[in-house]
Amino acid sequence: MSVYLSSDARIERVLISEESLRERVRELAGEIVHDFPPEQPIYLLTVLKGAFIFAADLGRELRRAGARNVQFHFLRAMTYSDGIKGENETHRQVRLQGVPEGLDGACILLVEDILDQGFTLAAVLDSLANGDNISRVRFCVLLEKQLTAPSAAVAAVRSRLHPDYVGFHIPDRWVAGYGLDVNEEFRDLPDVVIVREEYFL
Ligand code: IMP
Ligand code: MG
Repeated sequence: MSVYLSSDARIERVLISEESLRERVRELAGEIVHDFPPEQPIYLLTVLKGAFIFAADLGRELRRAGARNVQFHFLRAMTYSDGIKGENETHRQVRLQGVPEGLDGACILLVEDILDQGFTLAAVLDSLANGDNISRVRFCVLLEKQLTAPSAAVAAVRSRLHPDYVGFHIPDRWVAGYGLDVNEEFRDLPDVVIVREEYFL
């Protein structure tokens, strides 16, 4: 058991171990390489900050799985509040920075840490649809939350979003680690853990 668990009461338990993450990222890379045209570069368009560790691992696993040309691109997505989501949210303002231009004709794999209410991914996908003549955007999320009681607005947003690749389906709890945070903390944890929400409300 990781030492940090017993020393921090705010962490409830490990949800996905470092080993399981490694194994699953490797599997995803195999699927992705199989689906993308071998002669074209794969543009990993990574949503910062949460997906930075996932993208770094995924990019290297793509190479191991046979990809010849993997390129890293980044954009930054920010919601108006950085804390844990509240009850019955119907809207979240998402600010995007650095949406790349000049990706004409590229095969893009959008890489995101987590699909929760869906506002972030919806905003990113809309911004790409408004932009260049991108041949095909596939998207990959490490974690997809199974929402227990989404508002009608959230359910509508989520129903539009069908990730091409999902690492793990997870319960509707706040998770952290492997790049994901609570108020900028815990991104460095090697595992994905469930946090005790009551400490962060
Ligand atoms: P959305 O609700 O799908 O728009 O998610 C908004 C953003 O909040 C995601 O891109 C994540 O960065 C972050 N997020 C959502 N759920 C979690 C979580 O459980 N842990 C850490 N970050 C999260
Ligand atoms: Mg994020």
